[in-house]
Parts: sequence; C-alpha cells; structure tokens
Amino acid sequence: MAIEEGKDPGIASRTNQSRVFPMRFIQFSVLCLCLILGVSVFSLYTIRYFKVQNVAPVSQSKILPCFQETSNIETWIRPPSTLLHTMNDTELLWRASFAPRRKNYPFKRVPKIAFMFLTKGPLPMAPLWERFFKGHESLYSIYIHSLPTYTADFPPSSVFYSRQIPSQIAEWGRMSMCDAERRLLANALLDISNEWFILLSEACIPLANFSVVYRYISRSRYSFMGSFDEPGPYGRGRYNGNMAPEVNLTDWRKGSQWFEVNRQLAIKIIEDTTYYPKFREFCTPSCYVDEHYFQTMLSIETPQLLANRSLTYVDWSRGGAHPATFGQADISEDFIKKISGSKTCLYNDQETTVCFLFARKFAPSALPPLLEIASRALGF
Ligand SMILES: *[C@@H]1O[C@H](CO)[C@@H](O)[C@H](O)[C@H]1NC(C)=O
Ligand SMILES: *[C@@H]1O[C@H](CO)[C@@H](O)[C@H](O)[C@H]1NC(C)=O
Ligand SMILES: *[C@@H]1O[C@H](CO)[C@@H](O)[C@H](O)[C@H]1NC(C)=O
Ligand SMILES: *[C@@H]1O[C@H](CO)[C@@H](O)[C@H](O)[C@H]1NC(C)=O
Repeated sequence: MAIEEGKDPGIASRTNQSRVFPMRFIQFSVLCLCLILGVSVFSLYTIRYFKVQNVAPVSQSKILPCFQETSNIETWIRPPSTLLHTMNDTELLWRASFAPRRKNYPFKRVPKIAFMFLTKGPLPMAPLWERFFKGHESLYSIYIHSLPTYTADFPPSSVFYSRQIPSQIAEWGRMSMCDAERRLLANALLDISNEWFILLSEACIPLANFSVVYRYISRSRYSFMGSFDEPGPYGRGRYNGNMAPEVNLTDWRKGSQWFEVNRQLAIKIIEDTTYYPKFREFCTPSCYVDEHYFQTMLSIETPQLLANRSLTYVDWSRGGAHPATFGQADISEDFIKKISGSKTCLYNDQETTVCFLFARKFAPSALPPLLEIASRALGF
C-alpha cells in the first residue's frame, strides 16, 4: 500500500488539490455573488435616494444609463430631475436637438412656457415674479443662467429654487452671449412639455398677469423675434461680406436680444452649424452678435414664422449705447399704462395696442412701488 501510495505521488497530491480547489472556488464564488448583490443594492438605493433628494447630478448621469434599457414611456416624458447635468455644450446641444417626428403625442401634453433668465447674479425682481407665477405651476418652467461664480440662495419654497443651469461667462455683444442663450434653450428643450421659450433678464418685469401672457403667446401664429432691415452704420453697416454666401447683405437683420420663440424655432437655433461659424468669425464688436445672429438666421430659414417684433418694451429715447433704467421715482400706474399702450402693432395680422408683455430695464429700487401697484396696474 505504501508503495502503491508512493508509486505516483503526483496523483495523490492532484486528488488532494482537486478536493481543495472546488471548496475554494465555491467560497470565492459566494464572495463574488455577495459583492455583486451588495453593489447592486447599494446603487439601487443611491439612485432612489438621489432622485428623491434632487441632487448629485454626477451619480445620476453615471448610474442611470445602465438601467435605461428597462425604461418605459415615462422616462421620455418626465423632465430631468435635476438641472445640474454634467454634459458640456457640444453634448448638450446634440442631446437637445432630439425631436419627435410624429405629430401626435401618445400622452396628454400640457404645453408650458419656459421663462429663461439670463442674469449676472441675483434676481432683484424675484418677489414680483413669484407673485406672477403663483397658481400656474403646471404651465411654466424656469431656467436661470448666471455668472458661474454666483451661487443662488433661493429658499425651497421659491419658484427659482434649484433652477440654475450649468453656466459660463457671457459677455455683452459677443458670441459667448449667444452661447449662453443657446445653453438656456437647450436645457429648456430637455423638458418635452416646454413649447414656448422666453428670454428675460434680471431687469425685466411682466406687464400683465400669467393668464394674459399665456393666452397671448399660445394663440399667436408667430414667434416674437425682433427682426428688421436697417440701413445705416448700426444696421447694414455691421455686415461683413465674408459671411456670403450663407448670409448676403439683403438677408442681414437687426433686432432686440430679448426674444420669444416656439419649440420648432428653438431647435433651429440650437442645431445650427451653418451660420454659427460665420457670425463667430465675422460679427465681433462693433458688430454686436446678439442683435444679429438669431434674427438674421431665422429670417433666412423661417421668415413666415416671425412676428418681427419683440414682446419686451425698452426705452431707447434717452440715447446712448444703453437703454433707460427705471427706478423708484419713475413707477406709477400712469407710467405702466403709458408703456403698455405706447404703440400699435400686429397680432395675428390684426392691429392691436397690446404689443408688450414684458419691460426693461428696472432698477432694484423700483420693486417696492411695483409690488404696491401690481394688482391694479399689472393685473396680479
Ligand atoms: C465635450 O466633450 C467631448 C467629448 O469629450 C469633446 O469632443 C468636445 O470637444 C467637448 N466640447 C466642449 C465644448 O468642450
Ligand atoms: C446669397 O447670394 C448667392 C449668390 O447670389 C446665392 O447663391 C445664395 O443662395 C444667397 N444666400 C442666401 C442665404 O440667400
Ligand atoms: C417678418 O419679416 C419677414 C421678412 O424678413 C417676412 O417674410 C414675414 O412675413 C414678416 N412677418 C410678419 C408677421 O409680417
Ligand atoms: C388677468 O388680467 C386680466 C386683464 O387685466 C383680468 O381681466 C383678469 O381677471 C386677470 N386674471 C386673474 C386671474 O387675475
């Protein structure tokens, strides 16, 4: 036996090994299984946790895609749970350019107005806007682009709470300003319910209540992009022949930066790669690109959809490079009446005196008297 055993020591040790091996293997497998289970439970938990908490965009964007294969239609309808995504501009504009091709939505879609605030920092008129929005929660969404260094401190009860989008420096009259506007549009496009998009500044106020604004915009056949052909140095004089043939002199338009566009035009603006390089290269100060780029581009692409006027009142009568700013002493019911009915214009091809729904520029000192007269003069 001893000889037998000693005959082939290799076999004995091999059998021993093979007996030990399965045990180790089983132990190892169980360990692996536990680990995998642990990790999945943990990530499921963190997803649920972060969804409820509405924070931690990094975890969301990194973990969610793994589970999107099991998504239902809700995934496509629900607006993003956080505005603080980690997409850079290239990725964001690409994502925002996704558009359904079928006419009818397979769910009840209540079209909303996206109010896009392009600001430096604080929103001094916030209390007035809070009153304006109150009671219309299903019909609007808010987006704020501010200086990247600015941290907003709105309380959770505010309509502006957590509405900041990832922002970059925007310089007046330069392409970085149009980039910021495109960033606002692209973020707002991620919510499929947003149908109209209004650009506002911290110095803007509403001139009517929400019901009036919603009806006016939703029933308009045209988008309110200011756009006109101006001869002279501040209009055609800013055109650069290098923009041809994409943009010829006769296509060149000028208009207010403060626009309202519908979803179709918003997509046109963010998907553009034809006109963008021309304007970036050949429209630099004293060609103020935010007064020409979208205005000219949309006049070439979809002239029949433009009202060619802005909804935002502004007073240039005092002259200079900047419009008048209104302070405490300017505010009265008569003043509001005066700017609300300051001219006549066309609405759906009919003449009207209701040409403006918003106005600028208002200094922080104008807020107290505005709040006082709001219910009588502004209708809210
Ligand atoms: C965004 O990221 C992609 C992929 O890393 C890169 O190709 C692109 O140039 C980036 N865009 C910007 C504007 O940084
Ligand atoms: C500009 O003019 C050229 C030459 O006449 C023409 O081919 C081109 O289509 C024009 N561009 C636009 C946007 O109309
Ligand atoms: C706006 O101007 C364009 C020309 O740029 C014109 O085709 C269009 O009909 C105008 N819109 C309205 C509502 O008049
Ligand atoms: C909104 O304003 C209009 C016009 O001033 C007024 O008739 C209407 O009653 C107001 N709506 C609400 C809900 O206050």
